[in-house]
Amino acid sequence: MTTRKIQQVIQGQPASDGAGVKLIRSLGAANHGSLPLRADPFLMLDAFSSENPDDYVAGFPSHPHRGFETVTYLLDGHMLHEDHLGNKGNLKSGGVQWMTAGRGIIHSEMPQQENGRMRGFQLWINLPAKEKMKPAGYRDIQANEIPSASFPGGSVKVIAGKFDAASGPVQGGATEPLYWDVLLEKGKAFEAKIPATHAVYVYPFEGSIEIEDRPLKTHQGGVLGSGDTVEVKAGADGARFLVLAAKPIGEPVVQYGPFVMNTREEIEQAIRDYQNGELTEVAA
Ligand code: CO
Repeated sequence: MTTRKIQQVIQGQPASDGAGVKLIRSLGAANHGSLPLRADPFLMLDAFSSENPDDYVAGFPSHPHRGFETVTYLLDGHMLHEDHLGNKGNLKSGGVQWMTAGRGIIHSEMPQQENGRMRGFQLWINLPAKEKMKPAGYRDIQANEIPSASFPGGSVKVIAGKFDAASGPVQGGATEPLYWDVLLEKGKAFEAKIPATHAVYVYPFEGSIEIEDRPLKTHQGGVLGSGDTVEVKAGADGARFLVLAAKPIGEPVVQYGPFVMNTREEIEQAIRDYQNGELTEVAA
């Protein structure tokens, strides 16, 4: 048994996306002219949290994606997803939208509230080359479909993968992702086995934590090193954090905004397809 240590700390940075939604970007944030910091296969993690409608009300009007998956987890609020396939999904507090862009999807995510708290996350998970051009897919997962498991000193909501006897609504997939939302009381510890094949990213969004004696404050993500066990201790105020894990893909990543492919040529193709209205067309 090897306990994973923090290999890299990624400080969340203020950013803005969509039509001006204020958020904190950790994975995927600009990195002073170098490639953004990622944790293969995780490309980006945005956290948004505001009680000020000016920070979110403009939402994410119609925009495309190709080559990866987007996972939106809403803690508080109400957003409406609509896409070119005709899917409509009401994303409400505690719910998840798991979208596979594949070859292409054009969607919007618009707040359905003009006041109150809007809080949640958007995670981008890469797809391997052989799945980048598969047909788009979309799953609307309600809060009551997400199981919770308790342990001494805390609880885990299991969105993807398994924790103990709790099995999340999303299972399998190319990178076999785990997505847990963990609540931990002050001074308590959380321990879990995660396969050594997986990359692990831990992101506290309330309170602070410690992993193998290294602290992580709110919005400081930790990319963990090799091992098969994760141990997290809560700080003085307790903590709530995401544990994200998945199998690395190990392929080149070329990103241009909402398109993530393996080569520049594929990106140029995606831009042409979008301009020609062919981004989402699946060959007959
Ligand atoms: Co989007």
